Amino acid sequence: MIDSKAPTKTRTLEEVVLHPETFAPYVDHLATLLVATVRDGADARKAELASALDGQPGQQLRKLYTISDLRDTGTYFTGSALANRLVTALANHLPGADRVVDPACGAGDLLVACARHLPLQATVAETLKDWGERLTGFDINSAFVDATRYRLALLAFERTKSSPREIRKTLPLEKIFPNIQLRSGIKEWELVSAPAVIVVNPPFSYGLAEKSCTWAQGRISQAATFMDNCLSNSARGTRILAILPDVLRTGSRYAKWRQMITAKATVHSVEIAGQFDELTEISVFLLELEVGADTGVTTRWAHPTNTTVRTVKDLFDVHVGPVVPFRLNHKGRWCTYIHSEQLPPWATVRKIDQHVRFAGTTYMPPFVAIRRTSKADYQVRCIGTLVTGSLPMAVENHLLIALPKDKKVGTCKKLLEVLKRDTTSAWMNERIRCRHLTVGSVGDLPWPEDQ
Ligand SMILES: C[S@@+](CC[C@H](N)C(=O)[O-])C[C@H]1O[C@@H](n2cnc3c(N)ncnc32)[C@H](O)[C@@H]1O
Repeated sequence: MIDSKAPTKTRTLEEVVLHPETFAPYVDHLATLLVATVRDGADARKAELASALDGQPGQQLRKLYTISDLRDTGTYFTGSALANRLVTALANHLPGADRVVDPACGAGDLLVACARHLPLQATVAETLKDWGERLTGFDINSAFVDATRYRLALLAFERTKSSPREIRKTLPLEKIFPNIQLRSGIKEWELVSAPAVIVVNPPFSYGLAEKSCTWAQGRISQAATFMDNCLSNSARGTRILAILPDVLRTGSRYAKWRQMITAKATVHSVEIAGQFDELTEISVFLLELEVGADTGVTTRWAHPTNTTVRTVKDLFDVHVGPVVPFRLNHKGRWCTYIHSEQLPPWATVRKIDQHVRFAGTTYMPPFVAIRRTSKADYQVRCIGTLVTGSLPMAVENHLLIALPKDKKVGTCKKLLEVLKRDTTSAWMNERIRCRHLTVGSVGDLPWPEDQ
């Protein structure tokens, strides 16, 4: 299982590269399949073509590279179901699109999904020429670039059901797909014309924001940077379809990024898509943009709207625990220390036996401690423990704490009841799907009228 944990040490994308030669045997398989398809016809190779055009590259990726390498580089190939779902939004637009760009194309899954909507020409050769002019893809892994070219060619054969006599010689794929290139999609794209459509599932790994970045500083998701770059390489009317990590939709750190997006484009849709795939434990959403359009539509980032008058933040101050254990430096005064492993779910804890020296902010009970780790679709998203006592406490960073404004234990008990409700978990699943609850998401939780 690949998870969304960011690597501990932040490296730039250029520092972490998956070696192309590791993927080369799979590219050889695609080459052999193309030769066999040209020789025998697409019908004779139906089953092999179907696998090569669906999840096979993603399976090979997991077989050939380690999970940590995939995670550090943010490399996940999109299965056909999700890729087709993404591009369906532009099904009517794609046949007339003269330039479709995927700036981080991997093995071409999104371009393959787009090419399923491109028109066929009289012969497979003419179809390949037409697709080659329309489709542009960049990746920094040369084996992925080759795989994209082979797979687009295989799709042309599959869709045209071409006869074996039509093409006899080896296909000069670099010439047929001159715009599928080994190249960084984060730099200037230098296209002769702006794209009609951009499709992108960018790397979800982390890097440092450029000094010139106006919407963030420090460590940020590369997916956010990629989107900024997609907008810079667009023109008015360019349509962008993206698969993005949920943190960009919901994280308070990305509020300015969301503002930047809505200042430059109209958001036509934001669709929560759940876990990326069976093995990749990252929650994603699908975003559809139109650059420069001013439709006057207010952007909704698919946050649930509150139907109640009050929310948790009206009754509680919510904070993230400030103690990061490995950063404790034996300075500060001794204080009681709480962390998630010590706190039994839904219980009331009065006595804590652990102590640390801590110089930062401490909190006076009573409060509700809520575990931050909370996967989307857990049965209960917000697991709480009531903490009482008469001394200030140091709180570990995997906990959120909700301090009642009226300082009453009874108000904390009511919050525990609210957290237990199925409706709370359902609300939270819509509000935030990444692994960690945030101050904002707990604060926005509707406070039921009956409490
Ligand atoms: C999440 S994968 C998505 C691949 C493909 N678009 C898909 O949906 O299956 C991200 C891809 O971005 C590529 N990548 C990483 N950094 C890049 C960069 N600076 N420029 C272009 N591609 C990059 C990786 O090699 C990887 O193939």
